[in-house]
Amino acid sequence: MRDVIIALDFPNRDKTLAFLDLFGNKKPFVKIGMELFYAEGHSLLRDIKARGHKIFLDLKLHDIPNTVKSAMRAISNLGIDMVNVHASGGIIMMQAALEGLSEANSAPILIAVTQLTSTSQDILQKELMINSPINDVIVHYALNARFSGLRGVVCSPLEVAAIKQACGNDFITVTPGIRFADNNKDDQVRITTPADAKKNGSDFIVVGRPITQADNPVEMYCRCLNDFCG
Ligand code: C5P
Repeated sequence: MRDVIIALDFPNRDKTLAFLDLFGNKKPFVKIGMELFYAEGHSLLRDIKARGHKIFLDLKLHDIPNTVKSAMRAISNLGIDMVNVHASGGIIMMQAALEGLSEANSAPILIAVTQLTSTSQDILQKELMINSPINDVIVHYALNARFSGLRGVVCSPLEVAAIKQACGNDFITVTPGIRFADNNKDDQVRITTPADAKKNGSDFIVVGRPITQADNPVEMYCRCLNDFCG
């Protein structure tokens, strides 16, 4: 089930559909985040779904349990394949999210964000006042997600082995922070290549700018597929 998910971090519908047109009959699994969802809402999701793509709706919800449950209910029948919340919202919030999705005809996979891949140990300690080593925090959040009934987590490929060891091999790991050796790191901190993500045991890699900003996005996507799934 290993797959490459392209992060569609575009500002509007026209740019998004023009980008997807480049792929012809290939129908990559795509991730729609806050930028596009807030700009274009449900109708773009329906259209992308109708074109045959799987969709990971990356809203990273984090609010009181009742609000998260209602939000999940509101998106539960859009036909999306994967959606997420922040594990730092706590166990009751994660369980509420699952409940909100449970009434859907076919509920999407619910996963949790452990720590953003842009967060460093320094940020954790100095800004968030969390003194444990970042890897311990991530494994602890993953265990909370599993306890809550979620199917997996978003994490850095560097954390996959520890998470699988703690939560079991079936617990899904979706890993952004992917760069080729010749890429700019942008704002990502804990990064690896697609080949190393595969070696580390990631189930899905999420790749944004290395594909969307490439001179030839389709070629870059195929390179990712080849290195990660081949
Ligand atoms: O362009 P880039 O490859 O850095 O895009 C990574 C995508 O994954 C972005 O859409 C970002 O919001 C998302 N993401 C992340 N780290 C997480 C969770 C999601 O980078 N922990």
